[in-house]
Amino acid sequence: MPNLKFFSGESVPLEMHKVRMVQKINLHPVEKRMQCMSEAGFNTFLLKNLDIFLDMLTDSGVNAMSEKQYAAMLQADDSYAGSETYFRLEKVLQDIFGMKHFLPAHQGRACEHIIAQTIVKPGSVALMNYHFTTTKAHVSLMGGTVEELINDEGLKIQSSNLFKGDMDTGKLTEAVKRIGKEKISFVRIEAGTNLVGGQPVSMANLREVSRICRSEGIKLIYDASLLTDNLYFIKIRDPEFKDADIKDITREIASLVDIIYFSSRKLGAARGGGILTSNEELFIKMREMVPLYEGFLTYGGMSVREMEAMAVGLQESMDMDVISQTPIFVEALCSELQAKGIPVVTPPGGLGCHIDATEFCSHIPQTHYRAGALASAVFIAGGIRGMERGTMSEQRNEDGSERLAEMELLRLAFPKRVFTLSQVKYVADRIAWLFKNRNLIGGLEFVEEPKVLRFFFGRLKPVSNWPDMLVQQFRKDFGESL
Ligand code: F0G
Repeated sequence: MPNLKFFSGESVPLEMHKVRMVQKINLHPVEKRMQCMSEAGFNTFLLKNLDIFLDMLTDSGVNAMSEKQYAAMLQADDSYAGSETYFRLEKVLQDIFGMKHFLPAHQGRACEHIIAQTIVKPGSVALMNYHFTTTKAHVSLMGGTVEELINDEGLKIQSSNLFKGDMDTGKLTEAVKRIGKEKISFVRIEAGTNLVGGQPVSMANLREVSRICRSEGIKLIYDASLLTDNLYFIKIRDPEFKDADIKDITREIASLVDIIYFSSRKLGAARGGGILTSNEELFIKMREMVPLYEGFLTYGGMSVREMEAMAVGLQESMDMDVISQTPIFVEALCSELQAKGIPVVTPPGGLGCHIDATEFCSHIPQTHYRAGALASAVFIAGGIRGMERGTMSEQRNEDGSERLAEMELLRLAFPKRVFTLSQVKYVADRIAWLFKNRNLIGGLEFVEEPKVLRFFFGRLKPVSNWPDMLVQQFRKDFGESL
């Protein structure tokens, strides 16, 4: 975002691109939206794209690509082994991160699989600022456990801390002492910490975590899936980096860690993933797994066309005009909602706007999935698809009891450069209506509950006829309007 002021004094997120290809979207009447939600088992993952007006489920694999990315796809070199595309992508990654080796994988969780298989031993502990669902699942599958060491502010909905993703380094030192470094598989820092509201990690914090890990000989892994938002916040919020080049910030991050991995469904706005390291031993161990689980070393399960798009997308990720777009739109929606008294995670992070379901739906017990219920209600109210990030996204304890999430959030993600300001205003309007009628929203209960990652395929039903009541109220207030 350039330094640009509006004469009116308004704060308006300005698009630094123009739209040259579009996709028509459908807005069904409220009755049909309710029917679609019901057929999807009150789980937004099970909705069909054709029935959705604004898809804010995720930014994963659905970001707008640039004309240069599409152009690059045409020069893809399709060969099983030794593709030119691979060498082009490897060169871009080495240039951006300054790391020696690159291993391709079909997406972020595939990288997590390879890393967990290589490093996690049964009974070991992985220390993280905060887990991501798939990361934790891969550590658990290998017989390890996860401990979260996020700073206390990170789990507060409202805070003035500008880097809520920071790891508490006091807790890290204590955990190393208590667990013993030989039982710690790795320390993992996640950029733009997803599950606490897309919150960034400061450079000062990463430097200190790195110092501790290096002095103890513990591997430090950096999940760079949400790197671009984190880079933007380091530049905007940390005076030390006010005039720094985005690439120099990236290089410093890479110099502090042993392994970087990423989902390029997010980073680089394509579809794929990769692991980077300069450590020969780790590289050789992880390399064995690529042909076994992903594909030959020069494509790793990705289409070469996506790899070309990824190479260009990664280079474009070093441009503030590109990477500022998501955070400024997130901020715009958060401000609109806050102005209407709606509780959101602050300061606004990257990735999406996060609504606090604990306050929004305080009348719904946590065991009735208040964030999941809110996600269903938002779809019924406006055809807007968000994602539950709360108790439904957790896995039950061994004894079958619920593991109640620390935060109950509804995430409204912003795929990069996809939505316009009028769409943001529509979202804010429908959520404001819902907030006024929040007492009509009721809870949900599972009718089909998978054991692992239940939020993907689980089916639920409302505990009462609250969806019908919500539709009736909508008709009363909006008349014939969609
Ligand atoms: N790490 C982080 C921080 C992520 O946000 C994701 C995916 C992954 C790893 C896994 O990557 O999807 O390519 O396998 N996040 C998506 C989301 C699914 O909607 O937030 P993947």
